[in-house]
Amino acid sequence: MCRSFLPDPVAPSIIREIVDLGTRAPSAGRSQGLHVVQLTGDEREQMWSRSLPGDRREGFAFPGLIEAPVLLLLFVDPDAYVERYAESDKAHTGLGNGRVEWRTPFWFVDAGMAAMSMLLAAQAYELGALFFAVPQPEDDIRSALGVPESQATVGVLALGYRNDDDIQSRGVGRSATRPRRGADDVIHRGHW
Ligand SMILES: Cc1cc2nc3c(=O)[nH]c(=O)nc-3n(C[C@H](O)[C@H](O)[C@H](O)COP(=O)(O)O)c2cc1C
Repeated sequence: MCRSFLPDPVAPSIIREIVDLGTRAPSAGRSQGLHVVQLTGDEREQMWSRSLPGDRREGFAFPGLIEAPVLLLLFVDPDAYVERYAESDKAHTGLGNGRVEWRTPFWFVDAGMAAMSMLLAAQAYELGALFFAVPQPEDDIRSALGVPESQATVGVLALGYRNDDDIQSRGVGRSATRPRRGADDVIHRGHW
């Protein structure tokens, strides 16, 4: 994850290709509930002016994040899943009866897969990227962008060229220094 970007724009064709690769991610029943609000240039202020207004911006821990020339706000439509699973080939699952029937909300699983595909695609284009939570006030940001109530919020993907000098001078954050769990830490062989 990269939290400091150069202001250089990313070619629209690259942004489109990254999102297109995200749409190739698997989805339950091929429900494909992903929606992306793309903000470039001055459009990014629709998010930043609400989450970091005025003096709050000066104290922000990651000023280089605000430089990111592309923000992709990811949403997913749970109703697309419910409707898909109400179709004849899936009706036997009962998942077409409503969101509450889904013990695992696969719309978020699938959105995570799509986001990961986009992170990998960004890496392949030698871009930096950060997946982060839609900042507060989330409701204000959603309504400013006209996001329908039915959509579930997934997160934001910031994209751009890495500002390596700034990254080096700031050092990594606390999360990035946590040791990684490996296969032996996560596998429960045969039984938990
Ligand atoms: C679901 C999710 C939410 C995250 N939210 C934030 C966030 O709100 N702000 C942030 O700075 N980083 C966020 N991150 C990035 C993680 O902090 C980052 O992946 C972690 O520090 C490990 O760094 P690495 O991915 O470069 O190994 C998020 C990552 C994921 C997967």
